[in-house]
Amino acid sequence: MNTIHVSASRGYDVKIGHGLLPTLGAEAAKLCKGRTACIVSDDSVAALYEKTARASLEAAGFSVFTYVFPHGEQSKSGENFLMLLRFLAQSHLTRADLLVALGGGVTGDLTGFAASCYLRGIAYIQVPTTLLAMVDSSVGGKTAIDLPEGKNLCGAFYQPYLVLCDIDALSTLPGEIFRDGCAEVIKYGVLGSRPLFDALKGDYDLMEVVTRCVQMKRDIVEEDEFDNGARQLLNLGHTLGHAIEANSDLTLSHGQCVAIGMAKIAEAAVKHHICSAQTRDEILEVLQKFGLPTETDQSRESILATALGDKKRRSNTLTLIVPQKVGECILHPISIEELPDWLL
Ligand code: GLY
Repeated sequence: MNTIHVSASRGYDVKIGHGLLPTLGAEAAKLCKGRTACIVSDDSVAALYEKTARASLEAAGFSVFTYVFPHGEQSKSGENFLMLLRFLAQSHLTRADLLVALGGGVTGDLTGFAASCYLRGIAYIQVPTTLLAMVDSSVGGKTAIDLPEGKNLCGAFYQPYLVLCDIDALSTLPGEIFRDGCAEVIKYGVLGSRPLFDALKGDYDLMEVVTRCVQMKRDIVEEDEFDNGARQLLNLGHTLGHAIEANSDLTLSHGQCVAIGMAKIAEAAVKHHICSAQTRDEILEVLQKFGLPTETDQSRESILATALGDKKRRSNTLTLIVPQKVGECILHPISIEELPDWLL
């Protein structure tokens, strides 16, 4: 097992290994005084792992409630959030008790935000079961729900008490969901690790890949927990990616859109003489190797219009994350009037 400590406003460990889910109860008992836990999970993940998580918590002396919701981004809604809070209140969870986010990014974001609000804040553990959640969303304390006006528009920075990444959970992931996480892994390679990027071209060890990504995320979160500087680097591919995702009415997945966003920004970086055509081609090749799209049939105008409404925009400025070469990216602030020149 690999353990990575994150020193943020709350310090916590990210444990990465095989067969970790059955250790959940013993880990939870060390971290929280109460002995009531609520597992939060979607219907797909609950069917696979709720029983093991519950048995482990019960063996450690917890009374366990489970809140199950329909899988999919639609469940990151205000309605579901309030239903979860009411479920916690009806189950009489106290401030000493615990939430367990068992699932992917939707579950982690929803549960983390509920943990930040319920009784003004209770403990939660992230148990990510997708690659994307392991390498990105479960670490760093960003929690949120969506509003009808856009994704992640309502949330909080609220760090978990522990992140438990059981690599075995990845073996049950449908191919498309696994590939979504691969887009984020490729992002880390382009951002800051030539060795990771090169490893992805051949046979790679998943536990090592997850560990490397979490280390990189830890370093960035420790430098800039509240997303005012270096943490924005993690938005590589996301400025255009989020716009494409929103325009697709959720028919394209997050990873697919990040992949297209990375391809587009690499293309623009060539045009602006920030990276070479060879770097762009290398990035496209790895995205394609993982079955990720690099193009969209959405019009340039519709992507532009949506990108301008992005929450990452600050007043009249947008910070683009632009690759210089594999393993090196820069924060490149532009005024919104310049954006059309960055969208080819
Ligand atoms: N998912 C991007 C971040 O945690 O900042």
